[in-house]
Amino acid sequence: MAGALGTLAVVTATVAVAQAPKHGTPPGWRFAWPKGDAAKGRDAFAKFECYRCHEVKGEKFPAPTEKGKVGPELSQMGPLHEPEYFAEAILSPNAVIEKGKGYQGPDGSSKMPSFNDSMTVEELIHLVTYLRTLKPPAGTGGGHRGH
Ligand code: HEC
Repeated sequence: MAGALGTLAVVTATVAVAQAPKHGTPPGWRFAWPKGDAAKGRDAFAKFECYRCHEVKGEKFPAPTEKGKVGPELSQMGPLHEPEYFAEAILSPNAVIEKGKGYQGPDGSSKMPSFNDSMTVEELIHLVTYLRTLKPPAGTGGGHRGH
């Protein structure tokens, strides 16, 4: 009898440990990108000269100058991607690269440089918010689809 109770106590203790992890990630948790200020994001886009490689139709940035390294036109990007996707595109350009568009260097890595040593987190937050506001200018067909 005492033996059976002892076993029960062990089983109960094991279940309790399984149900109450010390500090687990809450179920369903997902990283949510913070909301920023689109106007400040536009300033960051100009400051880091993203326009050297990315045209933004409808904007008044200088035209791209980095021949052979140019990335996708961004004017209609906003609705196509989640904020976390844009954040990753800037934090980690190699994470997703569309193949066959000349976006890769000889070693297969992205031609987009890393800004991680010069961009503040604040600037990145605003930049993502700015990119999310970009919509196709009225009357233009969208060439770029979600990928
Ligand atoms: C030297 C050229 C160059 C510069 C400068 C540059 N990019 Fe890029 N960018 C690229 C290329 C090439 C790609 C496509 C390959 C890739 O996804 O990494 C790209 C991809 C992207 C994408 C992903 C688009 C998609 O549909 O997947 C975003 C967003 C982006 N760039 C934003 C920026 C921002 C913001 C800046 C400035 C902070 C910037 N880029 C600076 C070349 C550049």
